[in-house]
Parts: sequence; structure tokens; C-alpha cells
Amino acid sequence: MIAHASDLHASDFGDTFHDVRHAVKRSARVADTDPSRWEVYWQESGWRVLHKKGARRAKIQLVDPDGYSHPLPSKKDNLTDPVDRAAQYACRVEARRARSLSGLSQGALDRLSEGTPNNVNVRLMRAARELPADIDLVVLTGDLTDDGSGYDAIRSAFERFKGRILAVPGNHDRYLFPLQSSLRPRPTHEGKAERWKEFAAWLGIELAPCGAYMKSYPERDVAIIGLDSCARGQRRFYRHNGALGEPQLAWLRETGKSAAWTGKKHRLVLLHHHVVPLPLGVGKKAPSEIGMRLDDGNAAAEVFDQIGVTAVLHGHRHVSEQRRPAGSHFTIFAAPSFTLGCKSGDDPSYWRIELGDRMVAERVYVGAKAVVGEDVDAALESGTMLADDG
Ligand SMILES: [Fe+2]
Ligand SMILES: [Fe+2]
Repeated sequence: MIAHASDLHASDFGDTFHDVRHAVKRSARVADTDPSRWEVYWQESGWRVLHKKGARRAKIQLVDPDGYSHPLPSKKDNLTDPVDRAAQYACRVEARRARSLSGLSQGALDRLSEGTPNNVNVRLMRAARELPADIDLVVLTGDLTDDGSGYDAIRSAFERFKGRILAVPGNHDRYLFPLQSSLRPRPTHEGKAERWKEFAAWLGIELAPCGAYMKSYPERDVAIIGLDSCARGQRRFYRHNGALGEPQLAWLRETGKSAAWTGKKHRLVLLHHHVVPLPLGVGKKAPSEIGMRLDDGNAAAEVFDQIGVTAVLHGHRHVSEQRRPAGSHFTIFAAPSFTLGCKSGDDPSYWRIELGDRMVAERVYVGAKAVVGEDVDAALESGTMLADDG
């Protein structure tokens, strides 16, 4: 039994590009906290509220454990003292950090989510707890993180499945954005690639030089190939098109001839980008593909059929759909965001796929959809992220 989930968008603070209104803001550079100029008014778990010595008017700053300053929260909750407000804000943000969430009880998670229902890290922890014990394997098809950091939240969320999880990276895990997230220091392509490789090692996946891998489960008559649909690299920093690239397609053709693959009844491929355009629901057109599509999708589909792929599992569009495209022999499972939900307006869900004599799949819901504002994927595909989209 497989649980296919996607697009977790975990992050250090649980904020996401899909909900920029609730982004955690912090300074781009490490703050000046020189003790000859600043004295500590309050500190807890590495957070500090500092007061500038000798300043004529009260001047304070809130600095996080990484050394970056955060804007002071405005007056609310009857807290008039700026130090109290800063301390309260620090406790609130720290409680939702990826590293603070492991081992929390269901009740504690419920309480955290009451205060911040859109926090992706909290949503991830709650959704992962809903996976039943009869799941043999969890597969995650990319956008594991929102901006290349937050893997510790995923490790905590799926700890009980350790050794039984497969994943592939998505554009958010590999590419850069023209917008700034709360991640510090600011992400780089190299840093993102490194963090994905570390996570793959934690999963026990051995990546080929082209970025692909195969796992074989003889006792279940199943073989699974994972592909990196961002392997080609990012062509323009404001475009998030994917491509498998020729080295990976060649690896796929070759691996597709091996007995470990051809001898299995169920032959699955995981990748992040979609192979065919997806409408967002009944009566809705497939959205524009600019900045979002898999550039070599047709070539990929051709190879999938050549090597006898039985099912293609992907994410990326935050749409839940099962289909068998005309002229192809594989079934497609598109999983929506496991944390934010489905673009159709539907709640978050995963695909529960039983691989026995036949392949039987069911959509299983996990909690209610997040109510988010602006959507970074929509901005990318419409080209409104930058006036000049080249
Ligand atoms: Fe996504
Ligand atoms: Fe994506």
C-alpha cells in the first residue's frame, strides 16, 4: 500500500510563497548585537530582545537564534510594553519552527494551528499523523520544501515511516525565486542541491550522477524510479520550467531494460513536473503553462511507454487527478499539496494506491484547505512575477 503525497512546502518558520501575507520577515544580514552597544533585556531559546545602550529614546531590537533581526510586532493583545510584545512574538514563531515541532502531542498541534491555521509546518505534522499504519511506503513527489530548507520538519513528520519513504525534488527544492523568503542566508542553487542530496541520503536513496534512482521491491512485485525534473538546471531565475534532460532519459532507457525493472508487474515513475497539462477541475481550462511545464514532457512520455511504465506519480500543479492520457499506456496520479490543498478548491489529500493483482487507487482527504492569499505558482505561470518575462 502506497501513500502518494506531494508539495509539502515545509519551511524554517512554516511560512510559504503561497501565502506571502504571512511571510516571516527578517533582516537580510546578521544584525549588529555588539555587547558594547546593546544590552540584553530578555532571552529564551536563542532569541534575544536587545536594548541600545545610552540611546535617548528607547531603542530595542528582536534578534533570532541565527542572528537576524525581526521587525517588532505592533501593539495588540493589550501588551503595551514593546519588550513583552517582542518576546511573545518570538515564542510564537519559535514554536512553529521545523526543529521545534517533533514529538508534540496532537493537542499541542491543535492549539498551535488554532493560532496560525496556515502554518505549513503545523499542517504537515497534522496531515502526516493521519496516514494509517497499513501504509507500506510513502512517496513524496517534490516541492518538499518551500525554498530549499525545512527538511527537518519532514523528517519529524514522517519519522515513523523512516526507511519506507521515497521522494523526488521539485522546483521549490532546486530553483531560485525572484521573491525573497524568510530563509537566511539567502538560498543558492548549490545550497539547495546540497540539502536535497542530504535528504536523499537520509531516505537511503542512492542517486545516479544524472539525479535518477531505482528501488526494487521483489516481494511486492514493484519497481519504482525516481526522476529529478529540475536536473537540467534553471534557465532563467523567474522561470520554473522543468526538464529531465538527455542524460536522465538515456539512463531511463537503459534502466528500463534491466531485469529488476522489466520483471516487475508494477513499474512506477516519480517526478515533480506534470507530463500533460491539467485543468483545475470540472469546467475549468488547463491554465497557461509558461514557467511551469516540463519542457521535454513529450519525450519523457514516449520513453515511459517504451519501457512499460504502469503509473506516473507527480505533483507541482496542486491538483488531484487520476487519468490515463489518450494514446499512452500509463496511468497518471497527480497529487495536490498535502498541506495547502487542491487548486480546484478541494481539501488537501493524498492518493492511497494498492498494488496487488490490480492497481486500485483512492483519494484520501487530510484536514481542511489552507486559506491563502497570493499564489506564487500562478504568478510564475502568468508571467506577472516580473514585467519582462523574456
Ligand atoms: Fe508546489
Ligand atoms: Fe512545483
